[in-house]
Amino acid sequence: RRSYEYIEVSEPRPGVGQVTLNRPKALNALCTPLIVELNAALREFQQSPTVAAIVLTGSAKAFAAGADIKEMAPLAFSEAYTTSFIESWSELTTALKKPLIAAVSGHALGGGCELALMADVLYCTTTANFGQPEIKLGTIPGAGGSQRLTRAVGKSKAMELILTGKSFSGEEAERWGVAARVFPSHEALMEGALKTAETIAGYSKVAVQAAKEVVNKSQDLPLRDGVEFERRVFHSLFGSQDQKIGMKAFAEKKKAEWSHQ
Ligand code: CAA
Repeated sequence: RRSYEYIEVSEPRPGVGQVTLNRPKALNALCTPLIVELNAALREFQQSPTVAAIVLTGSAKAFAAGADIKEMAPLAFSEAYTTSFIESWSELTTALKKPLIAAVSGHALGGGCELALMADVLYCTTTANFGQPEIKLGTIPGAGGSQRLTRAVGKSKAMELILTGKSFSGEEAERWGVAARVFPSHEALMEGALKTAETIAGYSKVAVQAAKEVVNKSQDLPLRDGVEFERRVFHSLFGSQDQKIGMKAFAEKKKAEWSHQ
């Protein structure tokens, strides 16, 4: 495994890969080299036969305090436009077919909040500090925040958050449906996230990938098309061995031994 400067990579449980953002001096501000490393690590996990689900986390103090303001400050329009600045951040939403759980403690601001919103499942601590403060810097969210946060909390609340730059807590994130669960401490959060990842990793890889694919389609497609897409994928799973294995095991009151085929 290659070594990284801004992240740490491990496999803490069977079937589970973990990426820990590790740029403590800048509260995990997401500079371009960090994003390059994150994409490389996720690509490696995507290809790994031993990893079936992934946890993305930061420190107890900060998941990530946003895009790197010092890197962005001098950027010209032409440079941002021609390099398609920030576009590469979304690689994890397109290239990663395995489930990604974001485990958020501390600050998740700007691009940090947006990165967390890209995950398939978001867990956080009660005191996590989410927000889109870009307006205070004379700019707007640039990594999908205006779209994903709005889908998560509705227009009025998203508009208020993005126009005022006010933060919201982990507790609020859970109440509003941004987070699936909240935990009282960073340790409890990590235990919860790893446990969920391990549970997912124990299922058929074919069914897990299909489940992620169809849920994500709900964010893009009108309901009728989404339901039809789901049904087509559901039908296609009758062509998998694991559907036969899973249903036979149920009938025989046994534990399914997945073939992942
Ligand atoms: N970019 C670059 N450096 C950052 C940073 C960021 N987003 N956030 C924090 N840092 C750096 C600070 O500059 C500081 O570095 P120095 O020690 O060299 O001065 C170090 O991290 C520690 O930060 P603070 O001293 O500010 O720590 P604090 O505990 O007092 O405050 C904080 C924490 C409230 C998160 C504060 O750091 C802060 O407001 N950070 C910026 C948050 C922000 O505006 N994020 C949005 C960025 S824009 C964006 O993300 C665009 C997009 O949509 C893609």
